[in-house]
Amino acid sequence: MCGIVGYTGEKNCVPILMNGLTSLAYRGYDSAGVAVWDGSDLVLRKAKGKIENLKDLLEASPVSGKSGIGHTRWATHGEPSDVNAHPHTDSHKTLAIVHNGIIENYQHIKSMLVKNGCVFVSETDTEVVAQLLGYYYRGNAFATLKQALAMLEGSFALAIIFADDPETIYCTCKDSPMVVGHGNGESIVASDIPALLEYTRDVCFVQDRQIAILRKSGIEFYDEFGAEIEKETLHVDWDIESAKKGNYEHFMMKEICEEPDAFRKTYDQYVAKDFTLKSDRFPWDEARAKALDRITIVSCGTAFHAGMLGKKFIEHMAKLRVDVDIASEFRYGDLLIDKGEAFMVISQSGETADTIAALRKAKELGCDTMAVCNVTGSTISREANHVLYTYAGPEIAVAATKSYLTQIIVLYLCALDLAQKRGEMTQAQVTERLKEMSKLPAAMQKVLDNKEQIQFFASRSFAVKHVFFIGRGMDYALAMEAALKLKEISYIHSEAYAAGELKHGTIALIEEGSLVVALATQPELQAKVASNMEEVRVRGAHVLAVTNGPWEGAAGHSHEQWQIDQMDATLAPLCAIIPMQLLAYYLAVQKGCSVDQPRNLAKSVTVE
Ligand code: F6R
Repeated sequence: MCGIVGYTGEKNCVPILMNGLTSLAYRGYDSAGVAVWDGSDLVLRKAKGKIENLKDLLEASPVSGKSGIGHTRWATHGEPSDVNAHPHTDSHKTLAIVHNGIIENYQHIKSMLVKNGCVFVSETDTEVVAQLLGYYYRGNAFATLKQALAMLEGSFALAIIFADDPETIYCTCKDSPMVVGHGNGESIVASDIPALLEYTRDVCFVQDRQIAILRKSGIEFYDEFGAEIEKETLHVDWDIESAKKGNYEHFMMKEICEEPDAFRKTYDQYVAKDFTLKSDRFPWDEARAKALDRITIVSCGTAFHAGMLGKKFIEHMAKLRVDVDIASEFRYGDLLIDKGEAFMVISQSGETADTIAALRKAKELGCDTMAVCNVTGSTISREANHVLYTYAGPEIAVAATKSYLTQIIVLYLCALDLAQKRGEMTQAQVTERLKEMSKLPAAMQKVLDNKEQIQFFASRSFAVKHVFFIGRGMDYALAMEAALKLKEISYIHSEAYAAGELKHGTIALIEEGSLVVALATQPELQAKVASNMEEVRVRGAHVLAVTNGPWEGAAGHSHEQWQIDQMDATLAPLCAIIPMQLLAYYLAVQKGCSVDQPRNLAKSVTVE
């Protein structure tokens, strides 16, 4: 979704803004722009399309200055165009503003402004905020912002420069992330951490309706009533390199290759050197674990698929019922959940609007809330009662890969911890499993080292029109994620089906040349999956089997077999996801798709 960056300091802000916008490009956008105070005027440069278009424009019409704001826009109100691109100004150019989110009552405010003579040039809800601020402005920026803020409904992160005080940036937000940091004689704001990393690691998240005032000398914070407040600084230990592409062609490939490392980092946070769980890292003690009747897990997209696999892990190992729901369904459904119940959200970004709303509903109902989250200081990590962090590091490609892996690792460890505390597994059994789990990075590396096999397969299969991922039990949960990964980056139609369900309707879609990927990592279900593979094979499908170690039966029912190292069946999905991510990646590359920024998608979905 949209990205914001703003700078005030001693340096020329234009390269800094452009750098920041480039580091936020992964969020998805369709136009970009900057507003720069050039010493006498607020100068705007805006261009539809890629950031390169804005770069070209800046080369043709250069501007420089020591303070400015920039934006990448993902169109919501009004088509992607130069005019609708941010920054926006009021009619008198009193100020320039950039905005992430949606102002829900913008029509109402716009009518009031039009009646009072404002003339609008764009179709955006953002210009409404610019005109509103300009309409109220009488020389006191802080008072004007507070006045306007009281009228705004919806979600927003705003960065504003007033021409009267051009080296100061006013920032505020509601339900949309905004992070600020002060470096050496410079202050910077952004909608996401990667844009700040080169300048400072000590950051503050602006919270709902707070105001941050950035000057080169420092940052002041005010609460929603206008009282000055102290804010805690968070240290971000992500290294800059991890947010850069290095020698990789795409972030997605880099992030897939980082998975063994992300695995180790996450595992080490929850598992002690003697292969026991660090039991106090989990949000339940023994009595609570025993008393639990169920856990409700709510999330979106890939994180929802992690929840589906988490359900299988927890139900199988800890014998505890888990209900999983999609956040946008949960929040508007009948909330059959009671006070004190365990409620978990999963979110890489910690900023997904529907997941935040579901978490808030659960809190209102008095649930015991917990979050699996990758971003320290994000809204979800601040608002949940307990946070189980994943240690994937920054994930830049829109398609979630290493974040999914670290989510399922944490869920697996939750299942083991619950199993031990509920008396379903002994300490010795848990240690045995943790030892086996510690070998997974090596098994993953083997898949990565043999990735050419997958690349070759993709080079032969990229013209395929339909792909069906089938599996049973944990493999079915894995199939859901495999299908999403493929469709979102390669635009190939793909679906996941519980293998046994095919013949209840979907098998009608199988025709000569359909690709069926049979996930068959669960030995006790292999015979059943074999029948399902046969059903599609005889109807003309090309069948690829993914197996846990050697499985003799596979060859008779499939045209191609890929093996991961043989391991405990419950661990297999943690490794088998990697060939599925690589398959999606190579098919998308073969088709010439924009792998890191697939069409219509955004990294962090901060609107409903
Ligand atoms: C798909 C993908 C999305 C996200 C979903 C939730 O590759 O990345 O489906 O998983 O938008 O995002 P988070 O985890 O940030 O809440």
